[in-house]
Amino acid sequence: MTDVIYPPRDGGPTADRPLLLTPGPLSTTDSVKQAMLKDWGSWDAPFRDMNADIRARLEAIAAGGDRLTAIPLQGSGTFVVEAMLGTFVPRDGSVLMLTNGAYGDRAIKICERMGRDVNVYRTAENTPPDPAEVERLLQAGTFSHLFVVHCETTSGIRNPVEEIAAVTARHGVGLLIDAMSAFGALTLDGAALGYTALAASANKCLEGVPGMGFVLADKQALRKAENNAHSVSLDLHEQWAYMEKTRQWRFTPPTHVLAAFHIALQEHAAEGGVSGRGARYAANCRHLVTGMRTLGFETFLSDENQAPIIVAFHAPQDPSYDFTTFYDKLAARGYVIYPGKLTQVETFRVGCIGAMGPADIDGVVEAVADVLGDMGVQNRRPHAA
Ligand SMILES: Cc1ncc(COP(=O)(O)O)c(C=O)c1O
Repeated sequence: MTDVIYPPRDGGPTADRPLLLTPGPLSTTDSVKQAMLKDWGSWDAPFRDMNADIRARLEAIAAGGDRLTAIPLQGSGTFVVEAMLGTFVPRDGSVLMLTNGAYGDRAIKICERMGRDVNVYRTAENTPPDPAEVERLLQAGTFSHLFVVHCETTSGIRNPVEEIAAVTARHGVGLLIDAMSAFGALTLDGAALGYTALAASANKCLEGVPGMGFVLADKQALRKAENNAHSVSLDLHEQWAYMEKTRQWRFTPPTHVLAAFHIALQEHAAEGGVSGRGARYAANCRHLVTGMRTLGFETFLSDENQAPIIVAFHAPQDPSYDFTTFYDKLAARGYVIYPGKLTQVETFRVGCIGAMGPADIDGVVEAVADVLGDMGVQNRRPHAA
């Protein structure tokens, strides 16, 4: 493996070789992509060794000592969240679900569909949940679990998972975290937080390719979760028990995705692990927010709530602005952004994660300035609420 240098591309992005400013799929290094050129027999010892090493590396990143085990699973992030909720929340369990965006809402839908008892604590899309209110709700009700999204990718907000973990620990309530867009870049101390399980994906801050996710689970809670799951393919207890026994996946493993993920994890370690990766994303975010503010844009979130993962910007009020034209013109220059996903205000989003550095972000801001010039967008202030 070679050292990773950002930006890893020769020359700038082009329409054919774009930079993805979207938080999954996201841009990956050439070495990650090249790892997929080999076919693997899933029962081969080298494949099983690689799988074991991937699990060990995930456990090391989680920093939970011997308490946590990593269980990889086929599918996109939602499959893994559904597997986590279905495996850990017993059929007669009751979950307090915290939401301030689309991914919290999706988890609520999952629990409702599974027929679990769901109780919702909702805050506005720009407002983190208040740990004091969580304390009050846990005192007032009887809950087996609490669910929270670490970084709600809808807005890019960072939710106060550490403070919430302290509350759930005091009440003996199992903590389930969707850390999809945070794991690997935002610190989450697996030993100190004592969560029951955390779900994340290969294709976010760990910079692998899409196709699989994983859950880091408390082994004791996992043993107790046998037969909870509503689904065969999403039963994490079975996936874990089978993998422990055979070092193999229960059903066809995403071999090429795993090979790419193995390299991505080595590159994560070479960059300095969570702190190194987090520092690069923080620099990306600073360059992005500063550059866009210089162009006249406003961020949806206040700086104190903003995670360095994805930034939502208010759409400009200028009548010449139209998202589709803006998107297409940026994509033609090799920069792929993300539409907004907020319910009340029109925004667009730009990701800070993936195989890119601050120099790439400066390129994005330059391209935005060019495109707005082309479109004749003068007024970049948001629409009045
Ligand atoms: C916080 C969070 N949870 C869940 C998901 C769902 O993942 P997927 O779209 O891969 O199913 C995402 C996707 O971006 C996410 O950001």
